[in-house]
Amino acid sequence: MDAENLRNIYNQYFSQGSSAWSSTDLKKTRKVVERTLYWLRKSGFSKANASVLDIGCATGYYTESFRLTGCNSLGLDYSEIAVEQAAQRFPSCRFVQMNGFEPSFEEEFDVAFCRGFSGVNTHDLEFIARWVNKYMRYISAGGYFVLAYSSDFSGKEKSGETVNLSRSELSMLVTLINGEYKGTHIFYYFGFVSKVKRAFEKYILRKNVKDYFYILIQKSS
Ligand SMILES: C[S@@+](CC[C@H](N)C(=O)[O-])C[C@H]1O[C@@H](n2cnc3c(N)ncnc32)[C@H](O)[C@@H]1O
Repeated sequence: MDAENLRNIYNQYFSQGSSAWSSTDLKKTRKVVERTLYWLRKSGFSKANASVLDIGCATGYYTESFRLTGCNSLGLDYSEIAVEQAAQRFPSCRFVQMNGFEPSFEEEFDVAFCRGFSGVNTHDLEFIARWVNKYMRYISAGGYFVLAYSSDFSGKEKSGETVNLSRSELSMLVTLINGEYKGTHIFYYFGFVSKVKRAFEKYILRKNVKDYFYILIQKSS
């Protein structure tokens, strides 16, 4: 998990105009953001026009999606190519090039949103908790850290595949994060219909199905 190595890999990836590892469909990212805000509201978050930090923002689709809901959003990525492309594509958002393992800000955020960030691609739970905890000082009172990543929840993966954290690893991880655990949600694009389709693929067709989990942690007061 070397930040400079990741930066080089992603610089190369973004300069080729690739989009396989990052979201580039605004309709989908808006849907995820609306759902995330719904989960946050259900768990008591009520701030209107929240300030949002999008960690590992890539070309800015989630950053823009938060802005479109009225949030004041800032995207962070270590790839300067990604940040450049994001700023060009979404000029109404702010973007910053920064190593996401060593955050440093002069402002606070109501929500830190972190989806698909490379720092979660490990079974080393203490490593994940260490960098997540560095963000807690930049979250406002009552604010949230949202940690999202994909998994088939088996706890193992083939070589070259991103890690599949198991449910017991996720339960352990939330105890290592300095904040109040407020639940884990799975995003299904077409709600109940997607849920049934996923179950069919998983249990009847025996396919390896990954879902995105969204863990909500509230900053302790
Ligand atoms: C798989 S993409 C996910 C992008 C987006 N959040 C999404 O869900 O579509 C991972 C992003 O994390 C960024 N990244 C990787 N290591 C980083 C680091 N140390 N600091 C900041 N960003 C990093 C990459 O440049 C890339 O844009």
